[in-house]
Formats: sequence, C-alpha cells, structure tokens
Amino acid sequence: MPKPLIVLTDLAKKFGHKAAVDKISMSIGQGEVFGFLGANGAGKTTTIRMLCGLTKPTAGRASIDGLDVWRDRFRIRSKFGYVSQRFSLYADLTVRENLRFFAGAYRQDHINEKVDRMVKEMDLEPYRDSRAGKLSGGYKQLLSMACALIHEPALLFLDEPTAGLDPVHRQQIWDFLYQVTQSGTTIFVTTHYMDEAERCTDVGFVQHGRLVAKGSPRQLKQALGGDLLEVHVEPPMPAVLELRKFPGISAVDLRSGRLRIHAADPQALVDQWQQYWPFPGLKFLGYSWVEPDMEDVFNAYAQGRHSPNQVQAALK
Ligand SMILES: Nc1ncnc2c1ncn2[C@@H]1O[C@H](COP(=O)(O)OP(=O)(O)O)[C@@H](O)[C@H]1O
Ligand SMILES: [Mg+2]
Repeated sequence: MPKPLIVLTDLAKKFGHKAAVDKISMSIGQGEVFGFLGANGAGKTTTIRMLCGLTKPTAGRASIDGLDVWRDRFRIRSKFGYVSQRFSLYADLTVRENLRFFAGAYRQDHINEKVDRMVKEMDLEPYRDSRAGKLSGGYKQLLSMACALIHEPALLFLDEPTAGLDPVHRQQIWDFLYQVTQSGTTIFVTTHYMDEAERCTDVGFVQHGRLVAKGSPRQLKQALGGDLLEVHVEPPMPAVLELRKFPGISAVDLRSGRLRIHAADPQALVDQWQQYWPFPGLKFLGYSWVEPDMEDVFNAYAQGRHSPNQVQAALK
C-alpha cells in the first residue's frame, strides 16, 4: 500500500442518539482513487464533512498528511479541494468568473493564466463566458471540479459528483478524474453507482455508518468466493420469483435477461437441475459461470449475505 495520506481512527459522529458515522477506521494511500460507497443515509457525506474540517467528530479522529482534520482544520484547507453534493457555484457568475473567484479565495498567483488553462483542460472553452446557472448538469459538475482544483491540491474530495447525470456525462467525469490522478492527486469520491466502483483503486462500503468492507475491487470480488452461476430461464420475471423460493438459494438478481444465483453450493444446483428441472412453467435454456462484479459485491453486503468478519478473513 502506498504511503497513507488519510487516516481515520474510530471516527464517529452522532446526531442526537443516532450514529451517522460509527467508529470508522481505515487509511487511504497517496495517489489512490478511493471510492466510498453506500446507500442514501449511510454516512458518506458526514464522513467527508468531518475530513474537510466542516463538522466536528463526536469521537475518534482523522488526519490528512499527519495533520488532525479538526484541530488543524485551518492549516489543512489549502491541501485539498472539495466538491460538495449540492451545487456550490455562483449561478450569476460566468464560468471564468467562478474560476477566478475560487482562485482568488485560495490566494493564487497568475490567476488569469491558471483560469485559462483550466477552462481548456475541462473542455469548457465554448462556455467560458456563460453563466454557471445556465450550464447543463454535466458541465456544472465539471465547473465545480475545476473550481475545486484551481489551487492544484494534492487531494480532492468529491461527494456524488455523478448523481443524476446521464451515462455520457458520468463517463466524462470519470475520464477527467483519471486524468487528474495522473499527476499523483489522491481522490476520495462517494457514489452509489456500482459500475463506478470498478474504476477505483480502492473501495470502502459503508452501511448505517459502519465500514463493512474495504479493499481493491479485485479483492472484494474474490472475497465473494468464486464465480457466480448465471442461468438462462424463460420467461425471466416469474423465474426470479420462483427461484428465490428454491431451497439453497440465498438471492437471485436479474441482469441482462439472465438470472444470477447466489447460493452456498451452486454446482449442486446445476447438477440437480440437469437431472430434473422442478419448474414446469419455466424453460431452462442453459447456464454459465460469470465473474462477480461490484454490484454483486454490494448486493451481498447490503443483503447481509456477507459478514464483515468473513470478508476480513477472505482478504487475509
Ligand atoms: N445535520 C444533521 N442533523 C441530523 N441528522 C443528520 C444530519 N446530517 C446527516 N444526518 C443523518 O445522518 C445519517 C447519514 O447522513 P449522510 O452522511 O448525509 O449520508 P449519505 O451521504 O451517505 O447519504 C442520515 O441518517 C442523516 O439523516
Ligand atoms: Mg450524501
């Protein structure tokens, strides 16, 4: 693992009696693209806000580059950029005016050169004199990222940068993030799109404020324990419902018209079904073995089919 840049030690935040973040311990290495994944309300934003020194931890601590995120919050601020979940640009200012404003706030020199370079890098040239409020969702997001990067921080926090964007713009944002990492910038990004997790070097799953798994996408997929059984059954929709009730099957997901089966012993199911297919109204057209993807990993945790201990053991 590269040198740790962000270290969380039992970091916790309570709102009243409710633990929004529940003793999270982990470290994120320099240069990583860390994907912080979890459902709505899992505690992602609260964690980011603590790391950015915007809200005080109730217990535990965290550091960035050795500095405490709360005690040293004013010293750390220049080290990172932060793109919050909500639109945080000045809607009445143009693209270039927004960038100049942020550059000024970070006390940058050569502001005009920096702004022009950023406008080019982000493909914002055609919109440089358009008001931010008039941009499409994707371009607003690109501009938010540009503003957060104008002071060339070594670390960038992004809170759901692709939420609500169409696939083309999501792709564009990730391509840009990849470009940003090429200069060694560390990225801490939250998302609830599982396909985006595949593009991270390291992923953490948070559920009800707890970190339930952390590792590279490859490690997490391996921890699921081998390939998944995918069966081709027609018609698929009633098949999902029938198979879910079948003994030995813990879950069935419909994916591209095929049924992904989660079971303790999938081979035994196949052997059994080839002898005798127990669903008279359904047609068994074949099966194959597929490598689990991050959506499978996430489903396994979300549905409690994998306990954190099991995963830790599998990762050792
Ligand atoms: N300022 C707040 N006051 C009270 N509860 C809050 C506050 N901010 C967040 N919460 C609660 O903390 C939990 C985690 O929220 P959040 O960190 O926003 O999750 P996520 O970003 O993963 O959707 C949620 O149950 C949310 O309702
Ligand atoms: Mg959030």
